[in-house]
Formats: sequence, C-alpha cells, structure tokens
Amino acid sequence: MDFPDYRPRRLRVNQAMRSLVQEHQIVASQLIYPLFITEGKNIRQPIPSMPGVSRLSVDQLKREAEELLALGINSVILFGLPDKKDPMGSGAHAKNGIIQRAIRELKKRAPSLLVITDVCLCEYTDHGHCGCLINNQVDNDATIEILAKTALSHAQCGADIVAPSDMMDGRVAEIRAVLDENNFEMVPIMSYAVKYASAFYGPFRDAADCAPQFGDRKSYQMDPANSREALREATLDVSEGADFLMVKPAVAYLDIITKLREEFDLPIVAYHVSGEYAMIKAAEEKGWIDGSKVMHETLLSIKRAGADIIITYFAKEMAKLLMNK
Ligand code: PBG
Repeated sequence: MDFPDYRPRRLRVNQAMRSLVQEHQIVASQLIYPLFITEGKNIRQPIPSMPGVSRLSVDQLKREAEELLALGINSVILFGLPDKKDPMGSGAHAKNGIIQRAIRELKKRAPSLLVITDVCLCEYTDHGHCGCLINNQVDNDATIEILAKTALSHAQCGADIVAPSDMMDGRVAEIRAVLDENNFEMVPIMSYAVKYASAFYGPFRDAADCAPQFGDRKSYQMDPANSREALREATLDVSEGADFLMVKPAVAYLDIITKLREEFDLPIVAYHVSGEYAMIKAAEEKGWIDGSKVMHETLLSIKRAGADIIITYFAKEMAKLLMNK
C-alpha cells in the first residue's frame, strides 16, 4: 500500500497513540548504577568530570541504596578506591578490602539490591594496569588466578553477580571453576566480553584513580577498528560459561551491540561509559543541548541497538524522568 492509502503519520497523531506503538522502552529495573566506593567516613565527594556522580564512603551506602530502590533501580556495580596499592593488586581480594566491606554493608542494609562487582586489578595495582606484570608486560595467566581469587572473595561477601572487566584471555573459565569449587555455582558471571581500548574511559580513570602509569591498555583491550573480533571474544566467553555478555563503550559501538544481539541468546549488557556521560553533561552545562532529552534519546538508541540492560551514570536521572511521566 502506498500513499495516499497508507499514511505513517496516522500512528503519530498524539502522545497516547505514539506510546501505544512504541517498540522500545527504558525501564528502571534494567538500569545498573555504578558506585565508586572510597575510604573514610561521611564522604560524598563529587567527581568534577562526572557532574552528579560522587565517590561514597561505605557508611553512605545505606542511604544510596534506599534512594535507588525508591526509584525502581535494583542493581548497582561497584568500583573501589583502596587506600593502598601494590604491584600485584592484592587489595582486590583483601578480606577486609574496600569492596568487600561495601558488599557486606549493602547486603546487610539493602538485601534486595543486586550487587554486581567489577572484577579487575587496575584500581589496586600501583602501575595502574589491569593485571600483574612480568618483565613489564601484563602477564595473562598469572593475572587470571588473582582475578579468580578476587571474584571468589566478592562472592564470599555476598556479591550477587561478578563482572570481570580486565580483558585477560581465559578469565571467565578460571573464575567459573573457582566459584564452582567453592560452592558458588549459583553466582552468575557478567563478562565484559567486548571491551574496547577507548578514550571514552577518561573521566572514569580520574574517578577511580586507575590510569596506567606507563603505556596503555591496547595489549588487552580491543582495537576500535575491529568488529568480527567482537564475535570471537563473545563466543569464547560463552563457551567459558559467561551468563551475560557486555559491550563497552555503548554509543560508539551500537553496531557491535546489534551483532551480538543477533548472534547470541544471552542477555546483552551495554556500558554507557563515563566519557559518553560527561559529553552530554558538558554540552548541557554550556546550554547547547537539552541534556534530559539527549539522555533519553541516547539510552533509547542503546536499547534499539539490542541491549537488554544498560549500565549508566544516568540511571537515577532517567528513573526520575520515567516517574514524572
Ligand atoms: C576497569 C574499568 C574501567 C571502566 C570500567 N571498569 C576503566 C578502564 O578499563 O580503563 C570504565 C568505565 C567508564 O568509563 O565509565 N578496568
């Protein structure tokens, strides 16, 4: 049927009609809010390059969890800022480490909140790389043992999901094996399966104080020029036992999200990263865009590309917008 018999505008006449035919929606229950946990007491320290986001001390987590749950956000992902770093990143699996304390506090104060932990060493190594070094190179096989130890220590504190973000080969299988040996066979792995060596992580590295002290992350994170390789990475992680597949960053990699959606039946997670957030906030502050509308449109684009779940610093703002409607 062609014009004038068929008129697409019929289904756009008013908001009720448009809502009726909407193909994609953002729901608060599929947003994950990142939390940066810092040492000290009574700390809510704003992060300059990420307006609206703060580093929180452990005692602030009860209040934060209550705010999130009231907004319908049921999941957080935790990043730690330890007071001490060393070459092996041993703080990542310390019994009383910053993340271990944060998990226990959240599971005690807000048991219904899903606690996802980022499993990586870069916040805990003094050189800032995501693994330990042998001859100044990030050593894959030594690192995955430390990562598995870290994931296990998170599970022992009550973490609901572990999310390795280091991009070492074989880490999903290693983590799965160690969790299973220790009776944590029900703890899922959300794998950062496809993580690019991206300049969009800039504000995060300030926030989490984890920029590499020499070199870059290109020997383990993926080259932005590659998309077929994303399928290989994801295939490996599925075979190693991943329960979720993540693509990161999100907006500059919507094609990758769509590819994974077409190839795999696991839940797809997109990480809308710090730089993607900061750019919208900066343009909004300048008065150049309507930040709230651009936020909504951006998150919709990530859903439309095929993501089920979005990790975003906008989670609270988006949930508030949904509630006002
Ligand atoms: C740790 C990690 C990073 C991010 C999430 N986990 C930094 C990096 O790989 O350099 C970035 C998140 C963001 O930019 O919002 N490996």
